[in-house]
Amino acid sequence: MTIAAVVFDAYGTLFDVGSVAAATEAAFPGHGEYITQVWRLKQLEYSWLRSLMGRYQDFRVVTGEALRYTLDTLGLAADAALVERIVDAYETLSAYPEAEQALGQLARFRLAILSNGSPTMLDALVRNSGLDRYLQAVISVDAKQAYKPDRRAYELVQERLGVRPQEVLFVSSNGFDVAGARGFGFKVARIERVTPAALRQELAAGRIGPAEMFRALRSQTEALNLAPDAVVSSLLGLPGLLDTSI
Ligand code: LAC
Repeated sequence: MTIAAVVFDAYGTLFDVGSVAAATEAAFPGHGEYITQVWRLKQLEYSWLRSLMGRYQDFRVVTGEALRYTLDTLGLAADAALVERIVDAYETLSAYPEAEQALGQLARFRLAILSNGSPTMLDALVRNSGLDRYLQAVISVDAKQAYKPDRRAYELVQERLGVRPQEVLFVSSNGFDVAGARGFGFKVARIERVTPAALRQELAAGRIGPAEMFRALRSQTEALNLAPDAVVSSLLGLPGLLDTSI
């Protein structure tokens, strides 16, 4: 089966969620690292909790609630306007430095994003980063009111692009998303931004702060028996991978 479409996760895969650190540190000096990491952990956790409870809210709301939780754990006061202002940082995340070049080299495929982000958040982000030029579709799970890794979210790819799951290479650095996409039936490439060896070395070094804990929990392949078809260290590994049969 040949690949017809390459579909990317957004947050953590094309865009660096860690780049909200400037906004969190500016708002709460000395707490930026903790807020940045706990906020992201809680954001995904809340998306899954809301899915399980049948209480979908869009990702902008989920992101705000996760930030509120995070600030409360530190006892930091923030009014609704400040929370919204920090959440706005999700619209101007930095793309990973190699993202544009990699997308440019994949122009022979249909290229799209499938993300938990709300349509408004994603449209702003993709436009602000300039990556909109390379993408045929920016698909939000909001249309199904179901967050990845719910199968209904992944079904949107076929519905929007008209390609069957086995013709899709799905690309993610998020372990839960890699497992979900594999379980759904996509071919999956995992972007390994932190190698197991680097993580082990970091953990052995002793200081396990919020960033190290985040990487320990979220940067590796999940032990769910749904391993990716391929692992590459950056988005620039994809063109070569697609030249081989995956
Ligand atoms: C996304 C999150 C899950 O972009 O990374 O869908």
